[in-house]
Amino acid sequence: PPSAQSLAQISSIVRKKLQGYVGFANLPNQVHRKSVKKGFQFTCMVVGESGLGKSTLINTLFNTQLYPGKYNDEAPVESPKTVEIKSITADLDENGVKLRLNVVDTPGFGDFVNNEASWKPILDNIEARCDMYLEQENRVNRLKIVDNRIHACIYFIAPTGHALKQVDIEFMRRLHTRVNLIPVIAKSDTMTEEEVFAFKERILSDINFHNIQIYQAPQYEYDDAETIAENREIVSKIPFAIVGSDKEVETEGGRKVRGRAYPWGVVEVDNEDQCDFVKLRQMLIRTHMEELKEHTNNVLYENYRTEKLTAMGIQQDPTVFKEVNPMQKMEEERLQHEHKLQKMEGEMRMVFQAKVQEKETKLKQSEEELYARHREMKEALEKQRLDLEERKKRMESGRPMTPEKAKKKGFSFNK
Ligand code: GTP
Repeated sequence: PPSAQSLAQISSIVRKKLQGYVGFANLPNQVHRKSVKKGFQFTCMVVGESGLGKSTLINTLFNTQLYPGKYNDEAPVESPKTVEIKSITADLDENGVKLRLNVVDTPGFGDFVNNEASWKPILDNIEARCDMYLEQENRVNRLKIVDNRIHACIYFIAPTGHALKQVDIEFMRRLHTRVNLIPVIAKSDTMTEEEVFAFKERILSDINFHNIQIYQAPQYEYDDAETIAENREIVSKIPFAIVGSDKEVETEGGRKVRGRAYPWGVVEVDNEDQCDFVKLRQMLIRTHMEELKEHTNNVLYENYRTEKLTAMGIQQDPTVFKEVNPMQKMEEERLQHEHKLQKMEGEMRMVFQAKVQEKETKLKQSEEELYARHREMKEALEKQRLDLEERKKRMESGRPMTPEKAKKKGFSFNK
């Protein structure tokens, strides 16, 4: 069969200008229709210190109560702590486009004196999801692969206004090679505009200093000017300063908005002048969801997969790509199978022979026993015959043998 290389050589590229309408300009529409039919799936994780508003943000982000038990409209809000890694799935529908959203809420850390390895269960969870994917890829039937890998990890930074904490640096350093890290400043309503600005700069320089890779939204030349500008605007806001609230409050002007009401006024979640929540949502849902998924698959997962397989001792020499000939492989397998069958047959024959031999010996033994008994009986009968003959002779001669004499001669004396 021709090798991949020779095939590539055979087909040379011909550049042609089309004379008329062929129809492949409709390809994007086909893809569009198919994707809408199939629906979309996205998994994001929230990580950060305890009480920074992770669970609140999830509800705010997807405009839905993903935590029916955690928040209650009637009773005053008493927000329980998240104590274990929890995954929630919601099927959302917007104008007929379906999105299956998985959100992984992680317990906040920072409550313990020693927070050294609090990143461990979170990293384990991320890697276990990659393992699950890898295992599915290696199955014979790969048609129904479920992708539970984390596509985005929103990392919450406490609004201290100082610098990144040691625990944040440690966390991000552990996670950045495995997930798309999106840092956010939590509860930014507790800081002034200038403080937020300065804090953002400080965070970015710390991230740079520690060589932490946060998610970099790529820019494409083929995008139109408007999209490029929009993407730039989004990227310029990282780390997003956010405010979360799933409650509606009334502004001074009587408008109902999602926000937080304070004695001095209302902070609106969806107001871009007041926080970057809208930009974060745009990036996650409107502009970069596919991009985040692609980066997860092509870069982060691919690296993990290589590391994992190499650690397992599976190696691929990049210089010598050995083509596997399927016919040869089948022939090898057939020979192996035949060899195995022959071995089994030989073993069975040996067992059979041993059994036959054992039976034969037993038969011979009982035959000999039978002969011996037969001989004994024959001898006894012969003796009896002689005895009778002797007695007959004596009777005929008129002098029967006395019992004593018969005994002496060894005859049995029957009356
Ligand atoms: P753990 O489950 O302990 O990890 O907490 P969490 O990070 O999930 O925080 P949660 O969403 O439970 O919020 C904790 C408290 O912070 C609640 O009382 C929220 O109302 C409040 N909160 C959430 N978001 C904000 C915000 O943007 N600003 C302010 N000021 N408070 C917020």
